[in-house]
Amino acid sequence: MNERIDGIQAMIKEAAANCRGRKIAIWGNNPAGELIRVLMMYQYKISASICVDDAGHGYSEISCFPPHKLDDNSSEYYVIVAVGYRSSVKERLERYGYEAGEDYTYFADCVKKKRDGYFEDAHGNTVTGDYSDLDFCFLGYDSKIVIGENVGLATSHIYAQSGSLIELGPDSMYLDSCIYAYNNAVFRSGGSSEFNRLYAQVYDNSIVSIGEGFIGYSFPGKSFIIHSQPDTSVTIGKKCTFSYGISIMSQDGHSLFDVKTGKNINSTKEISQSRSIVIGDHVWIGFDVSILYKTNVGSGSMIGANSVVKGNIPNNCVAVGSPAKVIRRDIAWGQINACEDIGICGAEYIALTSDGESRE
Ligand SMILES: CC(C)(COP(=O)(O)OP(=O)(O)OC[C@H]1O[C@@H](n2cnc3c(N)ncnc32)[C@H](O)[C@@H]1OP(=O)(O)O)[C@@H](O)C(=O)NCCC(=O)NCCS
Repeated sequence: MNERIDGIQAMIKEAAANCRGRKIAIWGNNPAGELIRVLMMYQYKISASICVDDAGHGYSEISCFPPHKLDDNSSEYYVIVAVGYRSSVKERLERYGYEAGEDYTYFADCVKKKRDGYFEDAHGNTVTGDYSDLDFCFLGYDSKIVIGENVGLATSHIYAQSGSLIELGPDSMYLDSCIYAYNNAVFRSGGSSEFNRLYAQVYDNSIVSIGEGFIGYSFPGKSFIIHSQPDTSVTIGKKCTFSYGISIMSQDGHSLFDVKTGKNINSTKEISQSRSIVIGDHVWIGFDVSILYKTNVGSGSMIGANSVVKGNIPNNCVAVGSPAKVIRRDIAWGQINACEDIGICGAEYIALTSDGESRE
């Protein structure tokens, strides 16, 4: 019998058993901490305040306080640590008078091997590649983070539950980004890419795959959001350019029912499996665009600002509006603004639209 239970469940079970009326403080104001907070509330009816770590990165709206408020306060707080393994967190809690298990629980408290370029914990989770700048947290078993050569991960976070794979291609930059992989989820991005404020929630059994040469722009307050529903996939081809404020959702996020039949009409496993999103190569997406499931965007196309895309958009066209419709065919686009040489679009992307529509 497999006696492993999901890591996050083990943590909250331990916390619920040991907190004995104390307030729960979650160390880590991040998606993992938020998940723990919600589970504590629903499963054990225990509400938790949030305690930020020194980086102080905000995630939820829940009240935060700095770690030093825990000092000498183990009679008031039980602490759940929801950040990747950092010996400094453990050392500090112990200095503040907290005892492992009795006063705090830290799932990542189980490092097996830790050296430059390789990390392994006792739960079968591994990180390969230079993770020195990465804030990571394993909340389950047998997940792998594979970081290519020359990857910048400044102020970025990766959270993984069980059996997931996160592969970041070489020569790439992830600025202020967060990838949350649930169970058996895959996030794969090709090399030579630039991600700014990517926020990817890759749910159970779903696959997000982004080709090489991706450029994602950003402004403060504008993120690139990917939510992949369980059992769905999001595929983005190579050499795509995404402006700021883009959302790609292969899920609705909540259940929708038909009152007459009482049936779920948007999120059963069977329905989810038909909800992929495929974006071809060298696609330019304008700012504040939403891309919904059951969508294919052909290679070489451009989507205008503020559009909502659902359905099939052919290759080498401009599509705009909600829902997005083709307004211009037979186009090619190039990365450099105000350039007069069509050659910059790349020979393989200079093509007529081929969707079978009749031509004048
Ligand atoms: C789509 C876009 C490139 C213009 O393409 P175009 O083929 O030159 O289109 P036109 O300006 O000739 O407009 C054609 C029609 O589409 C409409 N249209 C153009 N862009 C639109 C948009 N984003 N949403 C809704 N309608 C739009 C125009 O109003 C016009 O409508 P009409 O025929 O009823 O008058 C431009 O409007 C756009 O959206 N740019 C965004 C660029 C961006 O996001 N850059 C970020 C840098 S990465």
